[in-house]
Amino acid sequence: MTNLVQVDHLKKAFGDKVVIEDVSFGVPEGSVTVILGPSGSGKTTLLRSLNGLELPEAGRVRIGDAEVDFADVTPDKRGRLSAKARESVRALTAQSGFVFQGHHLFPHRTALENVTEGPVVVQGVPAPQAQEEANALLAKVGLAEHVNKYPHQLSGGQQQRVGIARALAIKPRLVLFDEPTSALDPELVGEVLEVMRDLAREGWTMVVVTHEIKFARQVADQVLFIDRGRVIEQGSPAEVISNPQQQRTRGFLKRILEPI
Ligand SMILES: Nc1ncnc2c1ncn2[C@@H]1O[C@H](COP(=O)(O)OP(=O)(O)OP(=O)(O)O)[C@@H](O)[C@H]1O
Ligand SMILES: [Mg+2]
Repeated sequence: MTNLVQVDHLKKAFGDKVVIEDVSFGVPEGSVTVILGPSGSGKTTLLRSLNGLELPEAGRVRIGDAEVDFADVTPDKRGRLSAKARESVRALTAQSGFVFQGHHLFPHRTALENVTEGPVVVQGVPAPQAQEEANALLAKVGLAEHVNKYPHQLSGGQQQRVGIARALAIKPRLVLFDEPTSALDPELVGEVLEVMRDLAREGWTMVVVTHEIKFARQVADQVLFIDRGRVIEQGSPAEVISNPQQQRTRGFLKRILEPI
């Protein structure tokens, strides 16, 4: 089966600092990829690049039929892209939903309004249809009772589940999660991971940056370990987590599994 997602030789720098260096990997449709790596290794930048939130200098990302060769998408001196480049990045962005670490809901909109925003504003879905679908998504993440609440009236775990419903509302082919539980109190982590487990069971294609090793072991089909902008280890959870080949992977796992 061809991969839903294919990343080839991606490279991204901020000024002189190279943050992503020659990253390549594929993601089969319906699979879960977990990305592990130390702070500052480039995990967020990589996810943002898959979604068109960052523009790498070189390399290609394909999701489904949307493909961007970043060598062709170079801003001019005033930071502007050509119409053609903008359109190709927009098509890439439309393929994935993004779940952020936290503090990302619109504070003055209800849970329901947060979820309908993307479909209505970006995709032009009629409001009644978007509301019906948003209600179903919020029920699916266990928030049927809370659809009309504002973010400040919800717990961190509930807010994060709204964030997941929002990412799914645009019917993406791929869902990207950037440390979705790392800003939560420990007792709220489980309810968010449970929703993610359900999505994996339903066959959503997911790329998840997380330090939740138990989740990675149980749910991931593939684990990538990233260090200093490079994929230095890649394989099944049994290979990368239980039997890492690289010293840096072993050191990282030891630090997160036995922090003290
Ligand atoms: N917009 C930016 N401008 C300049 N440097 C940036 C920018 N975004 C990220 N960086 C730098 O790029 C490097 C990688 O950052 P990134 O956020 O991708 O790492 P990360 O692996 O997600 O780290 P963490 O685990 O702490 O979230 C860091 O050195 C960071 O300071
Ligand atoms: Mg990050």
